[in-house]
Amino acid sequence: MALWSGRFEQGVSQFTQEFGASLPVDKAMYKQDIAGSMAHARMLAKQGVISDDDAQAIVDGLEQIERDIDEGDFTFDINDEDIHMSIEKVLTERIGDAGARLHTGRSRNDQVITDTRLYAKELARELMEANLKLRKTLLAVAAQNEGVYLPGYTHLQHAQPVLLTHHFLAYYWMFTRDFGRLRQAYDAANMNPLGSAALAGTTYPLDRFATTDMLGFSGTIPNSLDAVSDRDFLLDLDYAASVSMIHLSRLSEEIILWSTSEFGFITLSDAYSTGSSIMPQKKNPDFAELIRGKSGRVVGDLVALLVTMKSLPLAYNKDLQEDKEGVIDAARTLFDCLTCMEGMIATMKVNKEAMVEQARKGYLAATDVADYLAKKGMPFRKAHEVVGHLVLLCDKRGCDLDDLSLEDFKAESDLFEADITEALDLESIVAARNTFGGTGNDAVHQQMQLAEDAYTNDNDWFFEWEPPR
Ligand code: ARG
Repeated sequence: MALWSGRFEQGVSQFTQEFGASLPVDKAMYKQDIAGSMAHARMLAKQGVISDDDAQAIVDGLEQIERDIDEGDFTFDINDEDIHMSIEKVLTERIGDAGARLHTGRSRNDQVITDTRLYAKELARELMEANLKLRKTLLAVAAQNEGVYLPGYTHLQHAQPVLLTHHFLAYYWMFTRDFGRLRQAYDAANMNPLGSAALAGTTYPLDRFATTDMLGFSGTIPNSLDAVSDRDFLLDLDYAASVSMIHLSRLSEEIILWSTSEFGFITLSDAYSTGSSIMPQKKNPDFAELIRGKSGRVVGDLVALLVTMKSLPLAYNKDLQEDKEGVIDAARTLFDCLTCMEGMIATMKVNKEAMVEQARKGYLAATDVADYLAKKGMPFRKAHEVVGHLVLLCDKRGCDLDDLSLEDFKAESDLFEADITEALDLESIVAARNTFGGTGNDAVHQQMQLAEDAYTNDNDWFFEWEPPR
């Protein structure tokens, strides 16, 4: 029978027992559960609610249980329902009455959410570390490919040439924002609910601020009803993970496209490709596809929790037990995808020639030819039309703008002179786009500096900050 079975005459069926259990999921939080119980016991002793000897026996017993679980020497029993009951039961079996005093002034409702908050902080921390690794690699690849040109696209059609460094940095900034979201999710989790008991606080003289300090929370939740039923911080983490997965899915999509024979912009390392069981020539970007696919699953985790929370009355409801599985899945999936993407980017080969060849095709100079006329006084709208005619001419001849003669240009406008060749030159087209944030070489150089600064800031903050365990 369960630890709460006093008012029951019979137990639930084995099926129902297993249906209602969260142990398979929440045993991942055993370290957090033990840390929470130790803090609670020490605080109870400090407040004179239990004796120092009892608190010491509890702490020693919990330390032993933690070692046993670490070493795989702890038998989990589904009949204990969850990690909280499993540990308390074994503790009490081992140390007797002291163990049975641990739950004084506490409910599983504040216990579970204390554990979950501590665990969410740990998940956010791991994700921030993986995020930094990927960003470091993106910065390195961006720097290694300075001076490489490729077509920039809109509507997946050639638009204007850009620097590959600029393209990589666009992804770098997405992941930089993701870091900020993970940090916010960490901060959202960082409030102490312990001491709220089942829903209304307790008659024991608990010192909630003491457990806040002991557990390394930054503050104490001021409303017991909210404390036991709020799951916003998990939504925040799910959302941060979802947005980051969306960014990974966009990068994956480009990796998949770029490694087709039509593009040929990159060659993935064999370590990040797979073959086909029937077609001997195949080299598939499976892992990029898998990351792209897994984005659906993480967004699903976010939506599932949003819907679970919808219309839920105060305070604790068993529905809330559904909160952990999805968030753990989202965090683990994102962690694996960040790690995989980092390796894939670090080892892929960039085919500069294929990129530059494409950057010379598809009338990528058209805007610059129009700007050439506009700078000589022609209204831009008119210049746009003139260049439109030139493109049509090229289309008919099956050539590109730089194959036209000066006469061809002059036939459309007298303003064209021999210096039009400069407006057609790939290097000058890119170099001229030096507005802040543009793809011009100087602007990209400046951007690279900002990107490195952002990395250094986040990295220094992360490694100087030792999160309490
Ligand atoms: N296993 C539960 C959960 O994960 C712990 C809290 C149970 N509280 C209760 N009153 N049933 O949410």
